[in-house]
Amino acid sequence: MAHDWVERGRRDWSSPDPVWGIFRIPEAEVGLLPDDLDGLDVIELGCGTGYVSAWLARRGAKPVGIDNSPAQLETARGFQREFGIEFPLILGNAESVPLPDASFDVAISEYGAAIWADPYRWIPEAARLLRPGGRLIFMGNSPWIMVSVPELEADGPATDRLMRPYFGMHRVEWPDADGVEFHIGHGEWIRLLRANGFDVEDLIELRPSADATTTYEWVTLDWARKWPAEQAWKARKRD
Ligand SMILES: C[S@@+](CC[C@H](N)C(=O)[O-])C[C@H]1O[C@@H](n2cnc3c(N)ncnc32)[C@H](O)[C@@H]1O
Repeated sequence: MAHDWVERGRRDWSSPDPVWGIFRIPEAEVGLLPDDLDGLDVIELGCGTGYVSAWLARRGAKPVGIDNSPAQLETARGFQREFGIEFPLILGNAESVPLPDASFDVAISEYGAAIWADPYRWIPEAARLLRPGGRLIFMGNSPWIMVSVPELEADGPATDRLMRPYFGMHRVEWPDADGVEFHIGHGEWIRLLRANGFDVEDLIELRPSADATTTYEWVTLDWARKWPAEQAWKARKRD
């Protein structure tokens, strides 16, 4: 699917400031990133086309991206040349990163490991990679959306009905799409983060502004103004 993401990748590499999620909400409204990233070692888990790492590099951080798709990394390398921002890119699995313990200050994932890797594997791996006091920041779909979208994308966007159970959520496979997503409930996230030595600092439920737009079809603006379609966790590894 990498070819489908090249133009969106270029658009986001071109954005001078970070914008988050399917409604592209500015960082100034969301407040996902630490104020001072200067000199911090950052690992992006499931970096895809690499624009999040590029935003962080522009703010003075030293990012490293890991992704298990050679084609996505090829796109990311092309953008590095095009935009003149270079950082290491590693082909590998965010559930098992070939880098030493305690080598990063920040671990971040925007719809990368955050939804495509098993949280019971990648959260311990993020904890291993972070130094004491290090920050974990990740965002993806909310459990609200996971229980209220129809089974088939062709059946339209998220509804105002509960279509499937919340309890027991973990591996999610859609009948009309390849691949496996991972989503768990809020209580389960808190327990998993705490069990891996993190203190939860925030759960940001993204709310687009009334004039926001999106190219994605699985949620309407009206829905996303009433319920959180996307969420971001901020946690800190205990000293
Ligand atoms: C939708 S992209 C999001 C990444 C980035 N924010 C972007 O939009 O380009 C998801 C990325 O996660 C990667 N990915 C999925 N599972 C992974 C895993 N277990 N380890 C590393 N990367 C993974 C995919 O190859 C893909 O590039």
